[in-house]
Amino acid sequence: MLEAKCVLRLLFFYGLHLAAVAVSGGSGGDDEFVYSGFAGANLTLDGAAMVTPSGLLQLTDGAAVSKGHAFHPTPLHLRGGEKEDGAAAAVRSFSVSFVFGIVPVTPGMGGHGLALVVAPSRDLTGMASSYLGFLNSTSNGSARNRIVAVELDTIQSPEFQDVDDNHVGLDVNSLVSVNSASAGYYDDRTGELRNLILVSGEAMQAWVDYDGNATRIDVTMAPVGTERPRKPLVSASVDLSTVITDVAYVGFSASTGRLSTRHYVLGCSFAVDEPYPAIDMARLPKLPHTSPKSKFKVLVIALPVVTGVVALAMVACVLLLVRLRHRYVELREDWEIEFGAHRLSCKELFHATDGFKNKNLLGTGGFGTVYKGVLPTSGTEVAVKRVTHGSRQGMKEFIAEVATVGRLRHRNLVQLLGYCRLKDELLLAYDYMPNGSVEQHLYGGGSKPALNWAQRFQIIKGVASGLLYLHEEWEQVVVHRDVKASNILLDGEMNARLGDFGLARLHDRDAELHTTVVAGTFGYIAPELALTGRASPLTDVFAFGAFLLEVTTGRRPVEEAMDGSNSRLMLVDWVFEHWRNESLVEVVDPRIQGDYDVGELSLALRVGLLCSHPLASVRPGMRQVMQYLAGDAPLPDLAPTHQMGMSMLALLQNQGFDSFVMANSSSSSSVSVRSFDTSLSRGR
Ligand SMILES: *[C@@H]1O[C@H](CO)[C@@H](O)[C@H](O)[C@H]1NC(C)=O
Ligand SMILES: *[C@@H]1O[C@H](CO)[C@@H](O)[C@H](O)[C@H]1NC(C)=O
Ligand SMILES: *[C@@H]1O[C@H](CO)[C@@H](O)[C@H](O)[C@H]1NC(C)=O
Ligand SMILES: *[C@@H]1O[C@H](CO)[C@@H](O)[C@H](O)[C@H]1NC(C)=O
Repeated sequence: MLEAKCVLRLLFFYGLHLAAVAVSGGSGGDDEFVYSGFAGANLTLDGAAMVTPSGLLQLTDGAAVSKGHAFHPTPLHLRGGEKEDGAAAAVRSFSVSFVFGIVPVTPGMGGHGLALVVAPSRDLTGMASSYLGFLNSTSNGSARNRIVAVELDTIQSPEFQDVDDNHVGLDVNSLVSVNSASAGYYDDRTGELRNLILVSGEAMQAWVDYDGNATRIDVTMAPVGTERPRKPLVSASVDLSTVITDVAYVGFSASTGRLSTRHYVLGCSFAVDEPYPAIDMARLPKLPHTSPKSKFKVLVIALPVVTGVVALAMVACVLLLVRLRHRYVELREDWEIEFGAHRLSCKELFHATDGFKNKNLLGTGGFGTVYKGVLPTSGTEVAVKRVTHGSRQGMKEFIAEVATVGRLRHRNLVQLLGYCRLKDELLLAYDYMPNGSVEQHLYGGGSKPALNWAQRFQIIKGVASGLLYLHEEWEQVVVHRDVKASNILLDGEMNARLGDFGLARLHDRDAELHTTVVAGTFGYIAPELALTGRASPLTDVFAFGAFLLEVTTGRRPVEEAMDGSNSRLMLVDWVFEHWRNESLVEVVDPRIQGDYDVGELSLALRVGLLCSHPLASVRPGMRQVMQYLAGDAPLPDLAPTHQMGMSMLALLQNQGFDSFVMANSSSSSSVSVRSFDTSLSRGR
């Protein structure tokens, strides 16, 4: 018993800090200790744990998937001494208080957590970081552990039945807590529960009290500097006499997962059978702060002594920090409540994509970057799109639209699962499409296998079916606005699914981006859309026509001319020209030459030409398109389209829409559908 007393001496570190004060126990051999900062303390450390020069006990150092442990070096004798019959005495009442801070590397995102542990040994090196560093998959749940812990967990792990990703739990031999609650404290005056965010980077104090008579354990917490709240946050009836060993050690365990976090303990005190000695709050070391405010303070003080270059670098760092911080501040406003069902946690999406690591990048498009991810709670594979948005203006309308899109359900649409909103960014989660986009199959340079004709025709019919649903079958008319090969995705069974609807809307609000979008998808834009900017189901039909010709020919709707003249070639004009010259066989994608159904292919090209008609009134609706493709209705004579040979490009560039209409009204010649089919057959 004696060696348990006076184990710590007054130590000075850097001549500044009084490290740890050992307070010898009173009568009856009571153990107690207090650390007001850890400088020079003789702790038993392992893993990433270390004591910083300022006296902070740093359990994890910001690396991902790491762990660290720190124990008070001497064992505690928590039992009341051996009884006469040799049976072990009950565990006495004890109290622990500690001040901690969880500082995430990326503001607001932390993992896994920190725990106070009472264990039979100081060696927890065989334990796993995913078990907060104090258990592992073999030991979890076993009564042989004889471990009691209070976890401050910043991850929601369904396998441990966690209540949320910011909770305090009381653990006995298992990571499935005996009882737990979302982090917070009860205000003594009002009785109100106030929330605390564990990963806030702010110091907090926690109190753990075991009442040996009542066999009850209470956990209380509060922001540092606040008096201990009377009402505990988490309580549980546990007889620790069946758990804690005769010789036990008290210490801390912390671990990180994929999200880098620094876990700190600033001070700690412990006592048996009586209230813990007070931690000297004035002597506690300071937590490193990541908040922009404190950085500015440092900057102001430092300026006179640092050179201009260093100052500039610091300003850059501060700006970066401010940026980073703001980037991950999730925004929620009252009006979003009604869209609750589609609201996801940004943190979850961040976890899902491994923090938007490059290895998970699926692609970059006009609207933003797309990452592959796996939702931690359900294991669902998702595609997460990060869309930057410059202004908040129109955000509400846009979110309303996102919510609308989330309600659309059709086998040829990519299902939107939900969204979350950051200051400059919107994160949208969709079903993950394992086979990529049609564009990748057509122009991916062999990265994806070429599609055969049967697959292409299936895709065409699928897209038509999805558009029909949007235009006519849902409760309101939805215009896709951005039908193109890169937006038509393929699921596991190579079914076509339309993605990205509604996003074009967001961009229309942004004048600067508007031009980019128009240029980027030039060949898909109907003349009247280019002229008036108004989208309609028939502008979708035009884009569908371009897509149809594209899938059949394997060429983009607009290509640079081969002759180096710097002019552009409109696919519609080219197909039309071949149709007129009865040489349609030459337009078929060489990759499917000799391997297609002539009837289907000629039908596809004709429907494509019809849908690509410059005059909206001539284009069929999607229901008609479906009927044509299914062979349920005869395709109208292509005669009205004969004037399409007049260059669409010239038409758009000169905006000579009116003159075109006049020219078209004096139509005379016609080309029969028959000759179209014949030319194809000849090619076989
Ligand atoms: C530190 O603690 C260990 C383990 O109890 C002990 O062996 C060692 O003597 C201690 N060192 C000092 C300087 O107190
Ligand atoms: C769990 O920890 C124990 C004790 O260190 C060790 O023997 C065991 O191999 C560990 N199990 C796993 C799966 O790491
Ligand atoms: C841990 O142990 C508990 C039993 O105490 C069990 O319910 C839980 O599924 C275990 N979890 C894992 C991941 O081992
Ligand atoms: C627990 O019980 C013992 C003996 O019955 C008594 O002396 C002690 O005051 C009790 N402690 C508390 C906290 O009630």
